[in-house]
Amino acid sequence: MTASADLLQQDVALDAFNTLRLPARAAWYARVDHVDGLRAVLDDPRVAGLPSLVLGGGSNLVLAGDFAGLVLHVAFHGRSKVQEDADAYYVRAGGGESWHDFVRWTLEQGWPGLENLSLIPGTVGAAPVQNIGAYGLEMAEHFYSLRAYDLATGKTVGFDKRDCGFGYRDSFFKQAGAGRYLIAAVTFRLPKAWKPVTGYADVAAELAARGLVQPTPLQISDAVIAIRRRKLPDPAEIGNAGSFFKNPVVDAATYARLAAAHPGLPHYPQADGREKLAAGWLIDQAGWKGRRLGPVGCYDRQALVLVNHGGATGADVIAVARAVRADVAARFGVDLEPEPVFAGTPPTP
Ligand code: EPU
Repeated sequence: MTASADLLQQDVALDAFNTLRLPARAAWYARVDHVDGLRAVLDDPRVAGLPSLVLGGGSNLVLAGDFAGLVLHVAFHGRSKVQEDADAYYVRAGGGESWHDFVRWTLEQGWPGLENLSLIPGTVGAAPVQNIGAYGLEMAEHFYSLRAYDLATGKTVGFDKRDCGFGYRDSFFKQAGAGRYLIAAVTFRLPKAWKPVTGYADVAAELAARGLVQPTPLQISDAVIAIRRRKLPDPAEIGNAGSFFKNPVVDAATYARLAAAHPGLPHYPQADGREKLAAGWLIDQAGWKGRRLGPVGCYDRQALVLVNHGGATGADVIAVARAVRADVAARFGVDLEPEPVFAGTPPTP
């Protein structure tokens, strides 16, 4: 049994634990790497009844201010092949493992499938929460199951794919289950019959430029890494949380109206007849690409990413997000929904 006194820390700076590099403090903080330690922390009377915030890589998080509760920093580790049948490999990783390192490790082992999701910041445990996706692939495609600790009941629960309610950048863990679970481990099913996903325009162009007609999984991973490095800011160099808004999905009539007024509007037809629009394009057209208000602005190579040029607070980020949203709504009549999770209490003015 682990004594919570060893794990619980009071008044901890979270600046280094969120990739937007926003300044905020946690009233209480614990880095947990096994269930016994987690239980000991949660049983500690000093944190009884306080709200908790489960923290992974902090790469999809906006800290509006200090967090007056307990931050549980997930450090569950380990990765292994747990099963293999005629059709697939089943590979599990601890929630605290780096997502990108996990992806590269699966490829090196000869278990392809996740290569299009290379270089996405964050942890394995955070991946199902927003069903991370990129370059024509969503994590849900290869998700098999997960184990989570239910902070409300103190029990460990298993979730299969259906339980998770995955959608575009969405899951049960962002909806009804928000804030209630700590994802301890995730298992992926990687089919032995590998199908490369190379239809996304940027990927196709990068592979062509490299002269690759039948790329290997590692070559696709390398191409994706190159595209991301070119287009997206590296959180190690400039604070950001990836795409700040979801790509909006509109009905056919709205799309028709917009397409008539704006030739060149990028759109992706959905199975239900609606159309997904490119939020980055809308923001760019609204004049925000490379524009900033004080320390926060839209990235100059991808307007969908808000960046902290240095010294920003959560309030600065929220001010730019509001202004961008209002300008896009005024110009196109489309409401943008933020993608990250928000936490913390802004200081009262
Ligand atoms: N575009 C512009 N100006 C911009 C940005 C984009 O005109 O400033 C246009 C592009 O030219 C393109 C379209 O908008 O025609 C879409 O842009 P892009 O291919 O860069 O992708 P995205 O839709 O902006 C989504 C994901 C990214 C993911 C990429 C690649 C969302 C919210 N974002 O971005 O995910 O890497 O596709 O698959 O779905 C993330 O979620 O944090 C993230 C980075």
